Amino acid sequence: MSLHEQWDALTTEELVERGGLKWTLKDARGRPALGAWVAEMDFGTAPAVLGALREVTERGDFGYASEALHERMGEAAADWMAHRYGWRPEPAHVHPLADVIQGMVLAITEFSRPGAPVIVPTPAYMPFLDVPPSLGRQVLQLPFLRDADGDFAMDLDALDAAFAAGADVLVLANPGNPTGKVFRREELVAIAEVAARHDARVFADEIHAPLTLHGRRHVPYASVSPEAARTAVTAMSASKAWNLPGLKTAQLVLTNARDRARWASIGFMASHGASTPGLHANIAAYAAGEPWLNEVTNYLEGNERLLRDGLAAALPEARLAPLEGTYLAWVDLSAYAAPGEPADRLLESGVAVNAGPSFGLAGAGHVRINLATGRGVVAEIVERMGALAR
Ligand SMILES: Cc1ncc(COP(=O)(O)O)c(C=O)c1O
Repeated sequence: MSLHEQWDALTTEELVERGGLKWTLKDARGRPALGAWVAEMDFGTAPAVLGALREVTERGDFGYASEALHERMGEAAADWMAHRYGWRPEPAHVHPLADVIQGMVLAITEFSRPGAPVIVPTPAYMPFLDVPPSLGRQVLQLPFLRDADGDFAMDLDALDAAFAAGADVLVLANPGNPTGKVFRREELVAIAEVAARHDARVFADEIHAPLTLHGRRHVPYASVSPEAARTAVTAMSASKAWNLPGLKTAQLVLTNARDRARWASIGFMASHGASTPGLHANIAAYAAGEPWLNEVTNYLEGNERLLRDGLAAALPEARLAPLEGTYLAWVDLSAYAAPGEPADRLLESGVAVNAGPSFGLAGAGHVRINLATGRGVVAEIVERMGALAR
């Protein structure tokens, strides 16, 4: 059976049985709700990753990671970026982390001006709004501009004003969650110019970078100009695209000499949380996981078409944002919201999605739908969403 056939055959019973968080919510009658919320995929992972993990298990290789393994991860990540995005950072400047959110914490606590507010364009992945206050930093929400096609754009004037008012970090998720936006090179150049003018920092969260769709190409922020390299603190991981978040391993890419000097004193502890199996899995994903990834992105494009066509037929007032990257669809259901948020009504109908308001001020009336599941499950999601019109 091909991978697509295996994914087509996924059933809700089987997915509930696996026991992951994504499939634990219940509908109004206590039956399992379709899991379209937590950002992970129902596709397992690549054979190359499974092979690497089997070898780790056979060797019983569960000890602390060696310096050589860290270096191999840096090489594999740099080679992947060169191959896929046309930019190769110095492998020695790619460091292990436990996860990408730890990268955000470091960007704020170690690489930005003490006490300065953090700019979060919204709608935004929920922890972006929670992490700065937990570190004693204020969040400045910066709603994205939208054009007639629903395309998102950074409000550069508002960004400039926020930096002028004292903010020192911009959180730039590219591709965006939940927007699905893949920034164009010229947009990144413009953002870097604004940040550099204020000698500010950009936390470039590129965790979804391998998951670009419909022919879009990811452009690493740090690669676009000297200003971008200087302002960037980049974090990435194989964890979204190869579905490995439980293995707790990510990468921090430092393209600013001052940050590298600071890393010399904080790096040992900062890298300590990356797991040995996770390092091996990330290396395998970057080195040999591309064929599986391409099957995934191709399948996701089909799932998105199914959602788009299904919504056009059942909920013609719904507005699906262009899905350029990620497997997270951002849908404006405000025409169907009253009374209350559409996410609550969808859960009653047996579809568990993320409620728009949790992504910030711009999220009211919206939902985020995770499309990384079987085609039949997506069809069922669309079918049940039709209840909103009734
Ligand atoms: C944009 C973005 N950043 C970070 C994360 C979390 O990554 P990690 O588990 O590596 O902290 C997610 C998870 O969905 C995400 O979508």
